[in-house]
Amino acid sequence: MLNILKEPYFREHYANGYVETGMSLPDPLVEEIRGHYATKSLGHNDFPKFFVKNEHQAYMEGLWFGFIFNTFPKKAQRMLKQFYDSSYDKAVYCEQVYIEKVLQYLLDNGFQRFFETRYVIASYDMYLRGNHRSRAAGIHFDLPNFHHIYETENDLSIYIPLVDLDDENGGRITVLPESKLKAPGNVLLKLLYEHFSKDSRFVDKDGYIDSDKIDKEALATFVKSKPHQELLAMYKGIIGLAHRQYAGEFSKPVETKGKILVFNNKNFHAAEPWKNDQVDREIYVIRMFPLYDAKIRLRSELHGTPVNNFLLDMKEGTVRCYDGPVDVARIPDEEKLAL
Ligand SMILES: [Fe+2]
Repeated sequence: MLNILKEPYFREHYANGYVETGMSLPDPLVEEIRGHYATKSLGHNDFPKFFVKNEHQAYMEGLWFGFIFNTFPKKAQRMLKQFYDSSYDKAVYCEQVYIEKVLQYLLDNGFQRFFETRYVIASYDMYLRGNHRSRAAGIHFDLPNFHHIYETENDLSIYIPLVDLDDENGGRITVLPESKLKAPGNVLLKLLYEHFSKDSRFVDKDGYIDSDKIDKEALATFVKSKPHQELLAMYKGIIGLAHRQYAGEFSKPVETKGKILVFNNKNFHAAEPWKNDQVDREIYVIRMFPLYDAKIRLRSELHGTPVNNFLLDMKEGTVRCYDGPVDVARIPDEEKLAL
């Protein structure tokens, strides 16, 4: 988060794993968001989509689930769906309805003061709902994912509980500060560029990799490549270390309804079990990332929905929505972070 967050927020993030902004969404906006997602049917779960033709499969090859996945793919898909259904009653990705409204509210109220870097891309949003019987997320970090391509080790999530998460209700997110242990991620952007820039099919006139042109065969070749396999092996190792050495060292923020937490999903995190049998746990998240000088264009779609089309300018305090993905080639390198 160095050069991304301003001091002292950089220090806070480094030591705690998140920034407690002290900002909250107004209650009517929180209720509007809840009302919007209330119209989605129970059981709507977008998580299994991420496991189709993705590197998670390669990651899981070393686990018992990976064996089942490769040997009995249909059965594995069913198990995967059951797993996520037991974790969430609803998991809705990419509605994109509240991104601009929430960000505009935050910028109108000084959200830019937390940032050292000028540009941040808001990629997509998600809504998560569970009940007291739902399985709480165990220790993990959100593995870089080829449905996105452009992810960084310093992704910034705006994490908004839509109900109180506290001692009584449980359901808080817990985070391992990066001062303790952190998985590297920016190196994946380097590996992607190195691999795909050798093939002119994927390089545009500006010398940028066009993420939308990377088809599943090309991706499969990259997934199997030695540098990527080494990175996956490192991820497997570090996840084991987080479980064995740091399980008791995760921090817990205060998360009252509507409160804005800035959190990096590339840090190890988990969730407390939800205890309230009267009210469901509801979370709204906007996934953002800082802009690096990697010559890789942003993907235009996630599961068929336009993404990566919101640009925050922290200097001007504005959020702009574009028709397509933000054209990163048009932003001068001096305004980007060095990879
Ligand atoms: Fe996660």
